[in-house]
Amino acid sequence: TGPLTVGEFAKQLRKEASEVIRKLISFGTMAAINQEIDVDTMILLGEEFGIRVVYKEIVDESNFEELEEHDDPNDLVERPPVVTIMGHVDHGKTTLLDTIRESKITSGEAGGITQHIGAYQIEKDGRKITFLDTPGHAAFTTMRARGAKVTDITILVVAADDGVMPQTIEAINHSKAANVPIIVAVNKMDKPDATPDRVMQQLTEYGVVPEDWGGENIFVPISALNGTGIDDLLEMVLLQAEILELKANPEKPARGVVIEAELDKGKGTIGTVLVQSGTLRVGDAIVAGNHFGKIRAMINDRGRRIKVASPSTPVGILGLSDVPNAGDAFMVFEDEKKARAIASQRGLKEKQAAQGTQAKVTLDDLFKQI
Ligand code: GTP
Ligand code: MG
Repeated sequence: TGPLTVGEFAKQLRKEASEVIRKLISFGTMAAINQEIDVDTMILLGEEFGIRVVYKEIVDESNFEELEEHDDPNDLVERPPVVTIMGHVDHGKTTLLDTIRESKITSGEAGGITQHIGAYQIEKDGRKITFLDTPGHAAFTTMRARGAKVTDITILVVAADDGVMPQTIEAINHSKAANVPIIVAVNKMDKPDATPDRVMQQLTEYGVVPEDWGGENIFVPISALNGTGIDDLLEMVLLQAEILELKANPEKPARGVVIEAELDKGKGTIGTVLVQSGTLRVGDAIVAGNHFGKIRAMINDRGRRIKVASPSTPVGILGLSDVPNAGDAFMVFEDEKKARAIASQRGLKEKQAAQGTQAKVTLDDLFKQI
């Protein structure tokens, strides 16, 4: 199977389909006019006709979430892990996020105002970790539905006094489906009725098995409330990140995903985005979802104005024309005019898709005859 049928390919070559079919037979292949042929075969056929076939993929920039990144391995540098905290209701996700944030970012921060931008970054032993502060499940499902992989590591919070519950299982399923490693934080260890062994046993049934038991999951007993075990947990996150060898190329226009966005009466659209590759800069022309804009200002998770944001950095941005959805991809383009055109193309496609009238793909650009 390939991108063109015999008939379509013959047309591109300005030959009769029967001639192409005859050539194919001479290769030992019986093919009908509406059969698809692969690129290698097309190149061979072209040679037979004395025509050089150059395969040129149609690069549809408006589908930018599907564009593959081709980076020179030399341009790739280590990036911080992006961590999502998931778990059942009341098992301590918010408390854990707050404890981590308080223990790590307020110290030594002049002013120390923590801006809520839906994500934050801490430093542990000189290495950064990004935490997404979104309702884990929602982010996971919408983003996964869009094919975007946002999280590198899941911290699964399980209350030691309550054990495995429905949303614990849901979190395991989401993480496994997205191939995201799970670190289990066995929480509420300070409670007298905490039974961590039971949690371990229960999780084993769902394929989350402690390393000590021959599995591949790290378990860390913690108390999100009083801070016990938090350092260990962060160390384990860094260890897991090392194993994953997370890298990105910072030397190109930024791409990433929208974490959250809202309309502020005074400031316009305020979006929080996570830069996944490249570097985002004030002044960049950007498309997020079906909306475009020019970045007027960026703030980090501490409410400070910043000018650049590197891979794995969460950042608040001002300047989008309208409010994109959480989970939408964003990408920087060369100028505002281009961004506007891409955004409107995306809007149009969405409308067509909703009406069931997909835009026709033209084959004209597929081949260049020399
Ligand atoms: P939802 O956002 O509703 O799903 O809950 P959550 O998982 O964010 O739980 P949250 O952090 O709000 O904690 C729920 C309750 O458990 C709160 O009363 C916390 O104070 C308490 N809690 C969280 N962690 C601990 C802990 O380590 N020990 C004890 N004793 N209580 C805890
Ligand atoms: Mg919560």
